[in-house]
Amino acid sequence: MRTESLLLPLTLLGRTVLAQSTTTSSALGRASAPVIQSLAETIPDDLLAKVRDVMEQTWENGTKAQALLEYAYQDFSPFSPTFGNALTDISLSQSIPDEIITIARTTLENRPASSNSSTGGSAINGVGIGSLLEDGSSADPASLGISVLLANASAAVGTQEVKNVGWGEAAESELRYLLERVPRNSAGAISHRADQPQLWADFVYMVPPYLAYYGYLSSNQTLLQEAYTQCALYRSGLQDTSTNLWRHIMEGTGTADPGLWATGNAWAAAGMMRVLATIQKSPFSDQMSSQRADLQAWSEEIINAAKSRTAKDGLVRNYIDNSSTFEDTAGSTLLAAVAYRLATMNLTTAHVGFANQIHSTVAARHINSTGYLTGAVDPLSFGKQGTYSPEGQAFVLLMQAAYKDYISGGGEDKTSAATSGKGAGWIGSVGVSLLLALGLGFW
Ligand SMILES: *[C@@H]1O[C@H](CO)[C@@H](O)[C@H](O)[C@H]1NC(C)=O
Ligand SMILES: *[C@@H]1O[C@H](CO)[C@@H](O)[C@H](O)[C@H]1NC(C)=O
Ligand SMILES: *[C@@H]1O[C@H](CO)[C@@H](O)[C@H](O)[C@H]1NC(C)=O
Ligand SMILES: *[C@@H]1O[C@H](CO)[C@@H](O)[C@H](O)[C@H]1NC(C)=O
Ligand SMILES: *[C@@H]1O[C@H](CO)[C@@H](O)[C@H](O)[C@H]1NC(C)=O
Ligand SMILES: *[C@@H]1O[C@H](CO)[C@@H](O)[C@H](O)[C@H]1NC(C)=O
Ligand SMILES: *[C@@H]1O[C@H](CO)[C@@H](O)[C@H](O)[C@H]1NC(C)=O
Repeated sequence: MRTESLLLPLTLLGRTVLAQSTTTSSALGRASAPVIQSLAETIPDDLLAKVRDVMEQTWENGTKAQALLEYAYQDFSPFSPTFGNALTDISLSQSIPDEIITIARTTLENRPASSNSSTGGSAINGVGIGSLLEDGSSADPASLGISVLLANASAAVGTQEVKNVGWGEAAESELRYLLERVPRNSAGAISHRADQPQLWADFVYMVPPYLAYYGYLSSNQTLLQEAYTQCALYRSGLQDTSTNLWRHIMEGTGTADPGLWATGNAWAAAGMMRVLATIQKSPFSDQMSSQRADLQAWSEEIINAAKSRTAKDGLVRNYIDNSSTFEDTAGSTLLAAVAYRLATMNLTTAHVGFANQIHSTVAARHINSTGYLTGAVDPLSFGKQGTYSPEGQAFVLLMQAAYKDYISGGGEDKTSAATSGKGAGWIGSVGVSLLLALGLGFW
């Protein structure tokens, strides 16, 4: 059943204490396996309520929608084996979650009249070409685009209009805004900012997944390719070649942050994983195998670089290479989600140990009794720890969704290396132990 899981209590790791020390598996040539400490803490159901309630900013609403799709409405998440095309699959079009439609409706209610103007270019059914939301960022509004596409695909509300604009028109207007209006840098990267070409790592989570999802729904390979190309251009523009980590903000004027910000790296890796998953589920997957391989390699570059620079309890620092910055739970949590996704997509389980460490640290020490993630960077002030982080709340749900999929898949190594006779190795046994500890069907 599609949407029932929301009714289940959200529990991060079950109640069972599992103290397990894993051994080095030299036969597999892996480095010393991490010690899984206390996988014990229960997250209050409040956490899910916070994901729903604390979002305010454009990108927060978009990230919330994505977290809910991955956690609760998986048929609409490309990470799920049950993912399908809501535009063409009738049963999916009949089950678009109300909650996602509400997010889309709020977006169209806030859509600026200027985006509706027909002046200055060819218009779509008189609707004009412009951003879904008024925003200094040309990228963040795109994070809400998937919700608008799903509302458009809905059997129940797909033909409705909000302020006389249809969902599909608003989505197409946003797409053409990105492709035709937003400034680009000299290499062709679509800017993260509306007023000038400037690259932010955050872009990779906001825009390419929208281009890819749009391309998937409309079977348009050009858009899937553009999603890939933008990831490639952002990597070229932001990667620090000495560490492989990505800088946060480069080019342009005003806001500057050339540092290797944890959350920026996590946005980039997580965005690339979403594009990879969407390409993989599309009819063009075989034709785009080199693009898939690149996206995997680029995500793993980030994970490997982060993994080799963790602090004692497995978290990464707010600026990953700077040991005088605090350990940041937000960026760490989203990186853990990426590491689990690499495993659930059967690409590699090499990073599950890294993810488990973060997962257990966050669960044990960084979810407070009212359901907030603590110890997260202030999302509005990149260098400081904040009191709470809306995006960080969503990252916990993204990590949990990925972890849940990993465990429900048996926690085994299904990558080609494993299936070609090397065996599941210690990862498999940790996964199976977890599964036993938590109880089958717990979720
Ligand atoms: C984000 O969503 C909330 C409702 O959950 C809404 O009040 C707010 O206006 C939205 N923000 C933007 C920028 O649309
Ligand atoms: C947007 O455009 C449509 C179609 O031209 C029009 O009916 C509607 O009133 C416009 N809405 C706004 C807010 O300008
Ligand atoms: C919106 O839905 C209509 C009807 O299903 C479809 O023809 C159109 O392509 C959709 N638009 C987008 C942008 O997905
Ligand atoms: C794919 O999308 C692009 C960008 O919107 C568009 O120009 C092109 O016509 C589309 N191709 C097909 C086959 O629909
Ligand atoms: C490392 O972080 C500290 C604390 O924020 C800062 O003062 C220092 O300039 C940073 N060092 C580098 C090399 O960026
Ligand atoms: C991973 O492999 C398992 C079988 O070993 C399969 O059931 C599952 O669908 C695969 N997942 C993906 C995303 O390919
Ligand atoms: C949990 O964290 C939030 C956000 O920082 C804070 O407002 C709340 O008071 C904390 N709850 C407890 C019980 O400490």
